[in-house]
Amino acid sequence: MANRLTALWNWFDARMPSVAEEFRKHMTEYYAPKNFNFWYFFGALSILVLAIQIVSGIFLTMNYKPDANLAFGSVEYIMRDVPGGWLIRYIHSTGGSAFFIVVYLHMFRGMLYGSYKQPRELVWIFGVLLYLTLMAEAFMGYLLPWGQMSYWGAQVIVNLFASVPFIGPDLALWIRGDYVVGDATLNRFFALHVIAIPLVLLGLVAAHILALHDVGSNNPDGVEIKKKKGPDGHPLDGIPFHPYYTVKDIAGAVVFMMLFCVVMFFVPEMGGYFLEYNNFIPADPLKTPAHIAPVWYFTPYYSILRAVPPLFTSQFPGVLAMGIAVLILFFLPWLDRSPVKSIRYRGIFYKSALAIFVVTFLVLGYLGTEPITVWGQFGPWLGNADVATVAARIFTALYFAFFLLMPWYTAIDPCKPEPDRVTM
Ligand code: HEM
Repeated sequence: MANRLTALWNWFDARMPSVAEEFRKHMTEYYAPKNFNFWYFFGALSILVLAIQIVSGIFLTMNYKPDANLAFGSVEYIMRDVPGGWLIRYIHSTGGSAFFIVVYLHMFRGMLYGSYKQPRELVWIFGVLLYLTLMAEAFMGYLLPWGQMSYWGAQVIVNLFASVPFIGPDLALWIRGDYVVGDATLNRFFALHVIAIPLVLLGLVAAHILALHDVGSNNPDGVEIKKKKGPDGHPLDGIPFHPYYTVKDIAGAVVFMMLFCVVMFFVPEMGGYFLEYNNFIPADPLKTPAHIAPVWYFTPYYSILRAVPPLFTSQFPGVLAMGIAVLILFFLPWLDRSPVKSIRYRGIFYKSALAIFVVTFLVLGYLGTEPITVWGQFGPWLGNADVATVAARIFTALYFAFFLLMPWYTAIDPCKPEPDRVTM
């Protein structure tokens, strides 16, 4: 059997040697720093979740009906009558949230170790494009079950586009394909969600990894391993990606899948955070839910949107602030003036700023899930302002301060000298 497989492989290799060449280039002869830690699991895990979403999505599509009259019922049919349908649907819904969890941790790793800094700016830019595309993918997918939250969430978000000066109303109409969110919207979101955006995601992942393999990986010390090479021409602090990191990543994937299964089998709704209660009610264009909130991964930006007061009656300032809050990520490589990459050698300013930023992001995320009245109101001495709105304003200011003050606090940060070689 082994001999036959070898013969088959030799036959294939003689006709298409580029497969083995690429495997060598990107796996066995891709030298990665030997000091990768826990934080370096999340790139591979993002690929794993992407694969899970594509495969489970294909099976969901076999029974889902992209029709405003049938969509909600077809999801119920998948859950109750299709053999294993409930499993496929929970894999996909848990996968949606898992994707954002691993991608947020992956982005945080980039901020911990300065992975976006020169020469990896393009890796970061492709990453931010992936993040934006992922947001569009999740938003469009959420409309498909045609529940109350799908419907009203889409209504709110598409209406935000209507606040853009001059072109707004036409833009919103063009996105919806109708005057309200309806069957035309559902059909186009379905087409974009199942094929167009996944293709863009796959293309961007390829670009992200090719760009990374051209410059080489960063590491927890932020040291460029290519600067110190041995007589064999390989970095002294590097090890071949395959088998060393393929094995390590498989171990990470096993632990991840265990956690994934716990959520999927025991708490697939995650207390209303992964699957919202209102989405178990069919969409009703005549009945607006009392409290509309996006899924947890969008709530930090939703908080920023709500925190910025309207200008006269226009929501545009909030929409603009929300857009800038995401797009500012593109500029991180140029906002950071620190001479060192890794948090290990940064000074107290960057360390404190990053810690405050993490708290800020979490608080904004929490506030976005709650009605603005969650913490009550200040007394008449503060104009009866909602406590949560004031908090959201303060944390929105802190969010932007992290980026806008970065050129200043990273330039004066008392950093430690970076070592020549990686430390373990
Ligand atoms: C579908 C989403 C994504 C996938 C599949 C993905 C995949 C990967 C993989 C496999 C790696 C190499 C392994 C590792 O360093 O963990 C990597 C590295 C990297 N990714 Fe992503 N990524 C995604 C999204 C993002 C996002 C949203 C950002 C940032 C905004 C980002 C920034 C980076 C950076 C800077 C590196 C280099 C890290 C280093 O060498 O220290 N990625 N990515």
